[in-house]
Amino acid sequence: MKVMVVGGGGREHAIIKKLKQSPEITKLYALPGNGGMKDDAECIDIGAKDIANIVKFAVDNKIDYAVVAPDDPLVLGAVDALNEAGIDCFGPKKNAAIIEGSKVFSKNLMKKYGIPTAEYEVFDSAEAALKYLETAPIPTVIKADGLALGKGVIIAETREDAKAAVVSIMEDKMFGESGNKIVIEEFLTGPEVSVLSFTDGKTIVPMVSSMDHKRALDGDQGLNTGGMGTIAPNPFYTQEIADTCMKTIFLPTVEAMNKEGRTFKGCLYFGLMITEKGPKVIEYNCRFGDPETQVVLPLLESDLFTVMKSVTDGTLADTEVRFSSGAAACVVMASKGYPQKYESGFDLNIANCVADNVYVAGAKLVDGVLKTAGGRVLGVTGKGATLSEAIDKAYENVGYVSFKNAFYRKDIGQKALGKAGASKGE
Ligand code: AMP
Ligand code: GLY
Repeated sequence: MKVMVVGGGGREHAIIKKLKQSPEITKLYALPGNGGMKDDAECIDIGAKDIANIVKFAVDNKIDYAVVAPDDPLVLGAVDALNEAGIDCFGPKKNAAIIEGSKVFSKNLMKKYGIPTAEYEVFDSAEAALKYLETAPIPTVIKADGLALGKGVIIAETREDAKAAVVSIMEDKMFGESGNKIVIEEFLTGPEVSVLSFTDGKTIVPMVSSMDHKRALDGDQGLNTGGMGTIAPNPFYTQEIADTCMKTIFLPTVEAMNKEGRTFKGCLYFGLMITEKGPKVIEYNCRFGDPETQVVLPLLESDLFTVMKSVTDGTLADTEVRFSSGAAACVVMASKGYPQKYESGFDLNIANCVADNVYVAGAKLVDGVLKTAGGRVLGVTGKGATLSEAIDKAYENVGYVSFKNAFYRKDIGQKALGKAGASKGE
């Protein structure tokens, strides 16, 4: 089978490395992939949003199956276009990807079907939003309706900051058309948990839970990033909470999408907050998380390709999805200055790394030499019987990676370790 993966970051590298273990797959392509993937897939220089050329490549090369990983092509309808050309895909169609593509849609869905989430109001004019903010509870959370490269959420600690956010999003269009509408919602507190799940629209199978570390610096300081590291499983996500989520969030979401005529097939990602009043949905994503995938898939013991095909075929209920009982930790190594200005083009040396997995996000080959080419350069994942072992292994291997201006967080997993210790009465 010839399989292609659309996307080019660390998440896609993790998907590709897992698919590579499948005996059925004879050839793997990445569109566009990146230079750090060259041993795992043939990289084709077609951008993830270039749907016309993605379809043309798939048809010309007789691709049997496509995995569309990033949010943009899913929301733009890449799966619909590939299906129309006769190519089976892993990923939701456009009418279901809207669960991530529009926050107004997802909030209204949750309200309509009684799925727990933060209280909210929707605005399509800055004037009305600013008026509402005169009396809204503070802190408050302002969200652009559409996709905004993961940056469309602003937490405002003061009324002035909240108003400034509305002006930036709705009048100055800092996120372009994505900010034509906004959601202003209740500020929630509690530990955050990411739960990725497989669903074929009938059955939903949650994967092992994980925890992202979104801020750039240790101690959750600094700017929000695309994610500086992850661990799995997430010790705040107890069996009791998992059971509650299945009943009040996961199954109701799948059913709600069916009732709306928007059956979701693919990886449905639940960004949850465990509040004092129980778990609530902070966000839905229509895809695998990055860098959650870099800790979740290494723990998957079943064949990923078999599971993905069962999602496409609607036979997930009959398919085994087994995870290891161990733990994984991923430390993201970035270029100094990320998520703002940074330099690229430095030699990237990963040859000595013996981690379970190194997932390259931002690199390119220049005359056969691997060079850095992005803010987040790579993620190093360690696995172990315990979280503490996994973290040690990840950091040991970080020491074997070198590139100029590298920076990374030193505290990935520490909050989780504290919780895991506390749960055992240590
Ligand atoms: P998102 O881009 O939707 O993942 O949001 C980014 C981050 O903003 C989340 O991971 C949370 O830490 C935070 N956040 C989003 N919504 C809320 C909320 N209603 N209350 C508190 N924090 C939030
Ligand atoms: N790590 C969060 C996301 O993929 O959206």
